[in-house]
Amino acid sequence: MSEVTSQPHDVSAQQHAREDEVVARVLASFDGCAEPRLRELMQGVVTHLHAFLREVRLTEQEWGEAIDFLTAAGHITDDRRKEFILLSDTLGASMQTIAINNEAHGDATEATVFGPFFVEGSPDVGTGGDIALGAAGEPCWVEGTVRDTGGHPVAGARLEVWEADDDGFYDVQYGDDRTATRGHLFSGADGSYRFWAITPTPYPIPHDGPVGKMLELTGRSPMRPAHLHLMAQAPGHRTLVTHIFVRGDAFLDSDAVFGVKDSLIRDFHLQAPGTPTPDGRVFEGSWSRTVFDVVLAPEEPRAHGV
Ligand SMILES: [Fe+2]
Repeated sequence: MSEVTSQPHDVSAQQHAREDEVVARVLASFDGCAEPRLRELMQGVVTHLHAFLREVRLTEQEWGEAIDFLTAAGHITDDRRKEFILLSDTLGASMQTIAINNEAHGDATEATVFGPFFVEGSPDVGTGGDIALGAAGEPCWVEGTVRDTGGHPVAGARLEVWEADDDGFYDVQYGDDRTATRGHLFSGADGSYRFWAITPTPYPIPHDGPVGKMLELTGRSPMRPAHLHLMAQAPGHRTLVTHIFVRGDAFLDSDAVFGVKDSLIRDFHLQAPGTPTPDGRVFEGSWSRTVFDVVLAPEEPRAHGV
């Protein structure tokens, strides 16, 4: 457990021993934890936290600023504003956790960040329905199939889809209890699905709080490339949380939350005004369309505590 691998600063043997002793005492304080997984997690975080503190030689002023940062993140957080998810996302911790928990399986669709804007209880828009629900944006026809890694159609898969509107905001960011640009539907007997959305556009993650300040101070952009969130759930299959990204987007290489996977980028074909739509809907302006086939991995019993 006590692997101290780096001491880049000039620290005397006496000082080194003092610091080692603190680590050992804190680790030992968890030895009596009856739950092995909790003990592993707590001793792991202590080991790495102390290694970090010692490696960077954290000053007391910096410690205070870190506490202030976390306090501010707590103060701005509520049911709608989830600053700690933003912090995890912008540090790549969300994507790393997703990578660990969604091991590659055949040609199963890759997973990406869940993000802070999913809301339970979205409306059932049905096959061919429209998730825009009045939000501003260019109409976008999304279609595809859901199948398993053996190539068999998955019928009745629940597809949750959500996205930002044309102004770059999710409904929950307006604070007026509106429901828009989100909904769910189910794949048909042949695994197919289709719905109307709006053409995704790039948007910044909320950056008026402590995470935004961190990005600004470190010279990073809060922008995310245009994307549509999609979650697919079906019995016997691993739940997929992913995005559909728009090919050609200017921010694909600099996503603030590191969510882009090449395999999730699709062409969104622009359709000129007057082009007939797949279901006969008539729009005055342009619309777009894309195809995104979903491949679900089988559900695997998770090894626990190993
Ligand atoms: Fe998003």
